[in-house]
Amino acid sequence: MALVAAATALAGFAAPQLLAHGDVTPQAVDTSALPDIGEEWLGENPYTGNETAIKIGASAYNQNCARCHGLEGISGGIAPDLRYLELGPSGDEWYIERYRNGSSHDGKVYMPPFGEVLGQKAGWAIRSWVETKYTDE
Ligand code: HEC
Repeated sequence: MALVAAATALAGFAAPQLLAHGDVTPQAVDTSALPDIGEEWLGENPYTGNETAIKIGASAYNQNCARCHGLEGISGGIAPDLRYLELGPSGDEWYIERYRNGSSHDGKVYMPPFGEVLGQKAGWAIRSWVETKYTDE
């Protein structure tokens, strides 16, 4: 009897965790060391090559994006491999659109939106780090 209860408790405990996979709480990113860029969303990365931004971006990526896009930006297949994201303005534009709004189709969320939760500075910091991983191979 006790065994059944334990098994039930375990199942009840494990299920919500599985369901929560695509919906983990975003981890706040401290961007106070980065230059302010205003409230208005920019279309191009203001931090490209900025060492501080790259460092902040690396850790923000690991905490918020790696579970889907893979460690070091190397995707395991559930989400696109961000190393192939084009460099420069057209890549920036596509990047920030996804970052802000995420992606859903047919009522299913493929990627949650991050614009409101992490903010613009964190978004461009992550983009700066992603740029350092770029490859066309
Ligand atoms: C829950 C999983 C998940 C998380 C977390 C996630 N993404 Fe995504 N992302 C996806 C999926 C799936 C797609 C593809 C969406 C589509 O094609 O409709 C995608 C697409 C993208 C794209 C477009 C890539 C392309 O080649 O078209 C960018 C850029 C992107 N994500 C950036 C990020 C960043 C930055 C973070 C962290 C702040 C992040 N994502 C977190 C799942 C995720």
